[in-house]
Amino acid sequence: MRVRVLATPDAIARMLARDIARRLARNPRLVLGLPTGLTPIPFYRELARLYRAGRVDFSQATTFNLDEFVGLPSSDPRSYRAFMQRYMFDDVNLPSRRAHFLDGMAADIDRECVRYERAIARAGGIDVQILGIGANGHIGFNEPSDALQARTHHTHLRDATRRANAALFGGRLADVPHQALSMGMATILHAKRVVMIATGASKARSVARMVQGPVTPRVPASFLQLHRYAEVWLDRAAASRL
Ligand code: PGA
Repeated sequence: MRVRVLATPDAIARMLARDIARRLARNPRLVLGLPTGLTPIPFYRELARLYRAGRVDFSQATTFNLDEFVGLPSSDPRSYRAFMQRYMFDDVNLPSRRAHFLDGMAADIDRECVRYERAIARAGGIDVQILGIGANGHIGFNEPSDALQARTHHTHLRDATRRANAALFGGRLADVPHQALSMGMATILHAKRVVMIATGASKARSVARMVQGPVTPRVPASFLQLHRYAEVWLDRAAASRL
């Protein structure tokens, strides 16, 4: 894995946004895989700023979000679709028909997962998958367990993950869904390039296990060691245990 340590979360946001803008200039039809969470917010705000400055164009781009809660309609302000609208999509020229999300209200969950995999394949696969990491080592909603799922699937969220998401639900843990849909490990690992971003001391332990530990389903992010071209962009705090 290529590990890059930058001084601050803002430096990561600025450099990564410029990197994506350059890639879009070279390939306007870029297919991006996108995460939610607190970590990527400065990156999304920076992309919106670059768009306002006329320095990035999403008119031909395609995006696929990593995961979504089960049981929330897309109009719900706590859904990950609403999150993306709020922090980025409302402010850039990405056509909504090319912003793909899993539907947490789908009547047939298994079909919905197959639909998503097919949509990714039809788009030609993901060129750049941006990822965050959970303090428990998850990526997307691939939670630590004895075995991991390869493809997009229905999953039960760990309490640690539900607690980490409680802020989206006004701090009310009881309101955080117990179930979600998520890209699987193969969906993620088949992206041509993977860029993990992690900031803050709370991520230092899972970052060290991801980069230096064994490849294990107990730390789903450790599977990124198997990717040909995985980059890990850290601030100093997140790198402090390497
Ligand atoms: P965070 O979430 O950016 O809010 O820490 C990351 C994740 O759980 O993947």
